[in-house]
Amino acid sequence: MVNQNELKALVGKKAVDWVFDNMTIGLGTGSTVKYMIEALAKKIQKENLSITGIVTSAETAKQATSLGIPLKSVDEVDHIDLTIDGADEVSADFQGIKGGGAALLFEKIVATNSKKNIWIVDQSKLVNKLGSFPLPVEVIPYGSKKIFERFDSRKFHPTFRLAADGSKLRTDSDNYIIDLHLEQITDPFKLADYLKAQVGVVEHGLFLNTVNTVIVGYTSGPKVLEAR
Ligand code: A5P
Repeated sequence: MVNQNELKALVGKKAVDWVFDNMTIGLGTGSTVKYMIEALAKKIQKENLSITGIVTSAETAKQATSLGIPLKSVDEVDHIDLTIDGADEVSADFQGIKGGGAALLFEKIVATNSKKNIWIVDQSKLVNKLGSFPLPVEVIPYGSKKIFERFDSRKFHPTFRLAADGSKLRTDSDNYIIDLHLEQITDPFKLADYLKAQVGVVEHGLFLNTVNTVIVGYTSGPKVLEAR
């Protein structure tokens, strides 16, 4: 029986098939992406590739630096050829929830500046409709209690994400995360518009119309899903 980490490793390794010499690659964040970055570092070395990485979190920067992958900031490059990232949920129509690792803001900045985005997930991330996974919303600390109360009154079942020491978790940009426990999101586009319109909300974890390629790890092997 293949375990979840093995499925993540499978898709991480498979994703580097899309990487070629001289590319600028967005490097996502999370436990699945970790395997992809390992595979990427090996490929760069083996094939003597010239690759520039654009990271989406301090955590990814640390790993990529330790493996010798050259990095630049998104503002230092003309374009990003491809971004490979994980996801927390992917619906049948290729929409997603991201931000389980609190890196949604940089992930969305890098994704929206990429010519192509690929998500790598194990089979447990595929859903019919989004919403079982709590939707992360990154908010500025000042006024965050007011936003929380507004979400609460709309029956979004908000919770502040906490760090290991019990304090409110801080993102790489020093903001808070409010997770919305929605169960099912009937209209992700409408919800995204509402969240974006709230003053103090920096970004939310709905990644809509971002990818057309998803690599899914099944026990039988990786499968590449392409949107029509
Ligand atoms: C990071 O904030 C997230 O968007 C991750 O990409 C997502 O949570 C997937 O992470 P795992 O690969 O660890 O499941």
